[in-house]
Order: sequence, then C-alpha cells, then structure tokens
Amino acid sequence: MCGIFAYVNYGVPTQQKAIVDKLLNGLRRLEYRGYDSAGIAVDNGPTVDQLSPVVLKETGKIDELQKHIEGRAAELHGDLYFENHCGIGHTRWATHGPPAPKNSHPHTSDVANEFLVVHNGIITNHGALKAMLEKKGYAFESDTDTEVIPKLTKFLFDKFAPRRITFRQLVMEVVRQLHGAFALIFKSTHYPGELVAAKRGSPLLLGIVEEKKTSVSVVTSEGYRTSNAGDNDADEAPDAKRRKNAPRKQHLEFYFASDASAMVEHTKRVLHLEDDDVAHLHDGGYGIYRMERSAEVERTVETLKMELENIMKGEFEHFMKKEIHEQPESVVQTMMGRVVKDMEGAASRVFLGGMINFVSTIRRSRRIVLCGCGTSYNSAIAVRQLMEELTELPVTLELASDVLDRRCPFFRDDTCVFISQSGETADTLKAMQYAKDRGALCVGIVNTVGSAISRSTDCGVHINAGAEIGVASTKAYTCQIVAMVLLSLSLSEDSMSLHSRRKRIMSSLLELPNAIRKALLLDAQMRELAKELKDENSLLLLGRGYNYATALEGALKVKEVALLHSEGILAGEMKHGPLALVDEVLPLIIVATMDDSYKKQESAVQQLRARGGRLILIVSEEDDEIAKTAGDKATIVRVPTVEDCLQSVVNIVPLQLLSYHLTVLRGHNVDQPRNLAKSVTVE
Ligand code: F6R
Repeated sequence: MCGIFAYVNYGVPTQQKAIVDKLLNGLRRLEYRGYDSAGIAVDNGPTVDQLSPVVLKETGKIDELQKHIEGRAAELHGDLYFENHCGIGHTRWATHGPPAPKNSHPHTSDVANEFLVVHNGIITNHGALKAMLEKKGYAFESDTDTEVIPKLTKFLFDKFAPRRITFRQLVMEVVRQLHGAFALIFKSTHYPGELVAAKRGSPLLLGIVEEKKTSVSVVTSEGYRTSNAGDNDADEAPDAKRRKNAPRKQHLEFYFASDASAMVEHTKRVLHLEDDDVAHLHDGGYGIYRMERSAEVERTVETLKMELENIMKGEFEHFMKKEIHEQPESVVQTMMGRVVKDMEGAASRVFLGGMINFVSTIRRSRRIVLCGCGTSYNSAIAVRQLMEELTELPVTLELASDVLDRRCPFFRDDTCVFISQSGETADTLKAMQYAKDRGALCVGIVNTVGSAISRSTDCGVHINAGAEIGVASTKAYTCQIVAMVLLSLSLSEDSMSLHSRRKRIMSSLLELPNAIRKALLLDAQMRELAKELKDENSLLLLGRGYNYATALEGALKVKEVALLHSEGILAGEMKHGPLALVDEVLPLIIVATMDDSYKKQESAVQQLRARGGRLILIVSEEDDEIAKTAGDKATIVRVPTVEDCLQSVVNIVPLQLLSYHLTVLRGHNVDQPRNLAKSVTVE
C-alpha cells in the first residue's frame, strides 16, 4: 500500500530529466503497491546556485504523472546537470482522502517546500497533531494524515533553529511524536544534498551502488551549502563518533524504496532498515541510527538474488498470466534442496534448513495455528487436513484480521504459522506480534526475503516463488501449499505408521511441476468458458475436503480481478442454504476430482442436476463416471491427478486461467484491479 522511492547521486553529474526518469521508473516498479495517484519532488532552477524544489503530482497511474510532467517541461530545467541531488517520489493507495493531486505525496511544510515528505503507512495520531499545528497557525490543504509530518518538521525546525540541529536529529524529534506505521523519506531546502528516512512498521530498503573513491569536496562544489550533518551529537556513542571522524565510505548513488524490485536494475546491494532505524544520506555516505539512543549502528548490506527479468513481463501481456505460467518452475524452486532423493532418484526425505532446530518443539506443541489473510489464508485451508493427518496435532485456522479483534486465545505452547506472500501485511504482522507476546513459537511461510514477517518470526520457510507483481496472488498460493506440505512432512519424519503415505506424497511432489504444466494446457478451454461466462452476474464455486480451498481461492480470483461476484462454498453446506440460489441460469463450478470426498461430490452433482443447475465440473482426467452423472449439458474440465493432498495445487490452475480470461474479456485491469494493492500495510 503506497510505494516510496528516492534517488540520490553524489558526485555523479546527472541531468534533471534523467533524475526525473529514474524516479518515474522506480515508481512504476512500485505501482502494484498503489496506483491512484503519484508525485515526485526534484530540485529546479536556472542554475545550481538558484535552486528550489519543485513538486509534481497527478491523479492516476505513473503514466498520468509522466504526461503531467511533460506538460510542465517549460517550467523545468531538464538539461541542468546536478553533481549531487536528492529526488523523492511516491505512488499512492488512498487511505485518508480521495485520489487527487492535493492528497498525493510529496507533502510539504509550506509554499517554499522547506520540508517535503513521502510516506507509506498511517499516522494514527494525526488528528491531535493537526489540531496542535493549526493552533500554531499552520494551514492544511489535504485530507491526508501525512501532511502533519512536514508541517511538524517545520514547526520543530523553527523551534530548534538556534541549536543548529542536524537533519537526522530533527527527523528523530519528528518521529518521536508520531504514532502508527510509517516508512518516511524527508527532503529539505535547509539540508541540501541530504535525505533522511525513518521506518516503523512499513518496509524500507536502502540500495547502495558500488562505492568508488571520491572526495567530499566534489559533493559540495555545486553551490549547496556545506552540510551541518553530524553537529550537536552529544548523545552519540563514542565509537560512532570515532567512525564519523574517520573518512566515510563514498558511495556515488543511493536509492530508497519500499521494495527491492524498484532498485534491482540499479544495484543488488541493499540494506533492510529495521523498525526505529533512521537512515541519513549526506556527503556521499550513509549512516544508520537507532531512534532510542541516536546511536549509529551497523546493518548488513545484503546481495539481492532477484534478477531484472524476474520483474519484467517478458513475452506475456500481463504479470498475472506470466505468474500463472511460471508455476511449474516456481514449485520446483520451493522444493529445491528440500526434497532429498535417494540413490535411485526417489524422494526419501524432506530437509528444511530454517526449521531444523524447531521441529521437536513444534511436535511438542499443544496445537498448530495457521494464520494469514486472503489467498494466504486459503492456502492454510488447503493444507490443514494434511497437517492434522501427518502431525496428529490439532490444526486451527485464524484470519489474521480477526486475531486482535477477537483477542484470540494464543498460548506459549502453541505453534503459530504466519503465511504471507509480501511478508508485510499489517494484519498478519500484528497477529504475529500478538502471538509472540503470548509466548507462542512463531513460524513464517513467506515469499519476500528480508520482509518484516520473515525477519521477526522465530523460524520459517521461504517459499521462493520469485517476485509476484500481479496484484492477484497466483504462484505464491501454490508455492505456499507446497511449502506447508513440506513442513508437514518434516514434522512427521519419525512416524513409522505414516511411512508409505509420506513416500507417496514425496514422489507426487516430484510429479507436480509436470501436472501443473498439463493443467496449463487448459488455457484455450478456459478462454472459451470465459466467453460463455463473461456477462454473468454471479458464479458459485463448490468444493470440499482439500478442495474447499480451491473453491474459495477460485472465487476470490474471479471476484478481485474480473470484478464478477463469485462465492466459494463448502459443498457440504449447499443444502443448508445456498441451494436456494440454484436455477438454470446461475453457473455452478464444482471441484470433484477423485479423493475421499469424491462420492459426496458426485451426489452433490446429482442433486444440483436434479434442480436444473448449470454445471461446470473440474474432474480427474481418468474419471468417466462423474461426467455421466452431470449429464450432457455439463461442461467438463479434466485435470491431471496427483496425490490427494496436492490436488488443490493442480485444480486451482484452470480457475486462475478462467479468472484471467474473464478479466480480459470484461475489459478490466488484470494486474492492478480496482481499489486493491499488492501489499496491504494498513489494518
Ligand atoms: C488475493 C491476494 C490477497 C493477499 C492478502 C494477503 O489475490 O493477493 O488476498 O493474499 O492480501 O497478502 P500477503 O500474502 O502478502 O500477506
């Protein structure tokens, strides 16, 4: 929800228009996080001695912002070279106030743009801060919570002015007043050549382009006044002072971004900021400081494994389609190095490096709680039955958004598994903290390496699905199921009675990529089916057992991207209400592949047919019986068979394809559905 981005060059002569392009490009990569309006701030002026920041904002997507900027080219000085420059940008998912230029970021302190701020998150005490600032004479122009931040910064700057406070100290003073969740980047005319970023609850990364030796004097030779960064640091630790006096490493370019995908084409060296970190860029270097003591800390610079092509559409028209088609390879990535084969090449055991020291604790748990939101929650439904069977522990499910509302009883002998593609969903993060506070063991099933959930759980499994850019989750869902099947297998390794069942599951795991490949061949049939269904008002999807999750997830996909009402129903509940909806018009998609609930599904099909229901069946490719039960009018979709507990991974594929084609045919935005955003970082 909202993406923030900054580009900083020190001693690298760069034209203003190139800086603007870098900002727009970075924001495009973050657009999946919010796409209702966007804005940037860069320095502008006829010469580098006469600069003032210009703020450019527009409603709509980044393309609209680009057009707006092109329309204002006459006011900009695109050809002006900057030896050093700090530019910031934002793409918005509205929380406070409708999409409009006045509500877009960067927000400003005053007409002179003395302080500019971009923000991802929510400031919960903005009402009180606004009232205080209004009393001091500040006038507000937006409906946002964010606008209090630059105004508060200006207020505190004026208050502290006689002390010549550093930019970092000033930001720390501001952040101390803020409640809620935020990743913030501050730019100021009072501190040219400097940016300060702060984080609590929302993600923020610093990207560092390969360092080169350069002298500080180059940095300040462009008319910027010498930075006063580092003054008045009486509260700093002595070693930090020593470090500061030592020559700083000179890095030529830096990026801040909400997500690594926005910087991977520029650098793979990134540093994940922790909550209550403040990052200060100045004089060609950076420092990371802790809010509580203002002390400088070391943070590890990591190397991104992501490649640029991972975040490009390639030959595909949409990310969603690409990601659906990546599933045979992404489940291989989930299993890579984790399914150990014997001399004959058969799968013999599961090895999960991140779980190795925790398996026995989990086995001694009173129960396992699976917790997540949306698609991630659906993946928990898909594995619950197997996890119960293999661990012989009670497995309960919790929607993360309900955990705090209900004050769920979590205990120290619980194992709580938090499932999240982004690893930053606010509801899941809050539920995890709640479980942690109660002493439960917290396990993460996460896609995004370095994300908040993966960093703050006690242990976990990265699903390694690769970057998922389409807002509708597809490959993360199937990889989450596979990762949790692996977890269930590793928790049951010692069980003799389950030996043959475990063997069957492990060998079926190895067949899974091919089964998904075959299911992807249903693309043309799903396109035809989408043509039949595109003008419907509603769809019902029915599943049971392992495939109750398939019905829910299929319905969620159709709903969120095709904007077509659809409902997933546990088939056993049909006669307790939803049956009343059945007529010759309403399409009914029934998942009836061969597993323990097959006979019951067959009888549900009979009952629905008897009432004239319009039937679409997903069946096992070798099954001829159920098609006869459904009658000639039914549409039959045949999927390859795998072990029952993995069948949901295959069965969801035609439904993902159906929702994709429905969306295209209905003329909706596939990758950026209305009102949604990929990472839901607000509660
Ligand atoms: C649906 C979808 C959402 C997410 C949910 C949780 O396609 O993507 O329902 O699954 O917002 O997000 P993560 O998994 O990032 O915690």
